[in-house]
Amino acid sequence: MKSSCAMIRAIGVGFQYAGYEIPSLGSTELEAREGQLIVLQGENGSGKSTFLRCLAGLMPQFYQGTTHGELTVDGLDAFAADPHEFFGRCALVSQEPRSQAFCPNLFEEIAFGLRNLGLKENISFRVEEAAEAVGLTPFLGHSVRTLSGGQQKLALLACHLALRPKILLLDEPLANLDEDSQRRLIQLIAREKSQGTLLIVSEHQRGPLSAYTDEVLTLKGPAVQLPTEQPLPLASLPPRLAITGWLAKDCDWGHQSVVLSDINFHLPTHPGLLITGANGSGKTTLLKALRGLLPPRRGRLDFNGVPLKKQKISQMASVIGYAGQHSDQHFFCLTVKEELEASAHLCGRYDANWLEWLSQQWGLNSLAERPPYHLSGGEKRRLLLAASLAARPELLLWDEPTAGLDSVYQNRVKAMISQLQAHGFSVIASEHHENLPLERRMHLKQGQVFV
Ligand SMILES: Nc1ncnc2c1ncn2[C@@H]1O[C@H](COP(=O)(O)OP(=O)(O)OP(=O)(O)O)[C@@H](O)[C@H]1O
Ligand SMILES: [Mg+2]
Repeated sequence: MKSSCAMIRAIGVGFQYAGYEIPSLGSTELEAREGQLIVLQGENGSGKSTFLRCLAGLMPQFYQGTTHGELTVDGLDAFAADPHEFFGRCALVSQEPRSQAFCPNLFEEIAFGLRNLGLKENISFRVEEAAEAVGLTPFLGHSVRTLSGGQQKLALLACHLALRPKILLLDEPLANLDEDSQRRLIQLIAREKSQGTLLIVSEHQRGPLSAYTDEVLTLKGPAVQLPTEQPLPLASLPPRLAITGWLAKDCDWGHQSVVLSDINFHLPTHPGLLITGANGSGKTTLLKALRGLLPPRRGRLDFNGVPLKKQKISQMASVIGYAGQHSDQHFFCLTVKEELEASAHLCGRYDANWLEWLSQQWGLNSLAERPPYHLSGGEKRRLLLAASLAARPELLLWDEPTAGLDSVYQNRVKAMISQLQAHGFSVIASEHHENLPLERRMHLKQGQVFV
């Protein structure tokens, strides 16, 4: 028999975003009590983030649409209560934490919530305690936007932890975290659970949380036929250029502080290179630099024998395809179809067969007319990876390409990497785990590059 003092009770809960014909969240049942850890699973687009938004009291106040069923969260009717009533008692750390940060530094970011709770004393203590819990004490003076992707997730978690909520909603917290940070986060989840916090966590990685999980809730989205793997349309491939690669001489990179210092390397183009390193070690910085988006603070970086700063970023787009870590930063078109085709048009390298193949391979056909910002986290990543290939570039720079993808599309990334390499593409990717089919390794540690 279920307990009568459930903190969350969902009866037939569903949600349909305004303007869409089918519900994004089907009828969902859940009864959860304090001190439990409930894990949400399901394919990309199955409604995990949508359900978390419902639990956080954001539907339909922040996301317009039609709600179904009854949802009670800590005594509040989640579909009718004022969102401010959720503040401090039920916290959502979203999949794209960057969009939630706005203060000049991490200290202020954490303190902001505490001040809004009306707290006047103990603010420093609570800020420091929260930063310590996620291992970010050394970064209290840094802007959250300059932290690495994994650190940003931890930073936003610290902001919510400081408020000591009764319910913690975590949307894919392990994606983008290195092994140490994952371990720390799991310890933290265990500690919160033992203190009576109810945790609802959406996660594609099954293993790490299993020891603490009380219940797994699997969400099923609308039945979508998974695209079968099709061979590359070879006739679409342009003749390959002779590219010699990158040469770095005495380079320093970083924003507020130097992340990579005194870097010297010769990186000839090679079918595959995997960049590894802990959170904050500089993987994203290096990939941005290789793409020509981040000039070195000191030193010289050449691409193909010419200093990168003398090359046009736009021209490089037809040679290098780039998919960064934060999907939301990249989109600028009104529909998925336009977004996919944009770089091909801009580079004068449009090829209908190629784009059709890309759209099919990345499961974008059914999403073609959607605004990119209305996609789920995994769907955005698929669009970003597909768009990086649209202009048929020879080189690909992919920053954590499998983060947030379900197992089907994680496998698709691996298969695609093998397929591309076999046909003369070079793929350089950063990842926390080492199971991408990339032969060479580059490791970043304490500001240095080890090839
Ligand atoms: N703001 C929005 N407006 C309209 N549709 C949306 C919006 N956000 C998500 N969707 C759609 O709702 C469905 C469920 O999305 P949701 O983000 O909840 O999935 P998810 O299970 O969290 O997926 P992922 O594993 O990729 O994060 C998807 O089809 C998605 O495209
Ligand atoms: Mg999601």
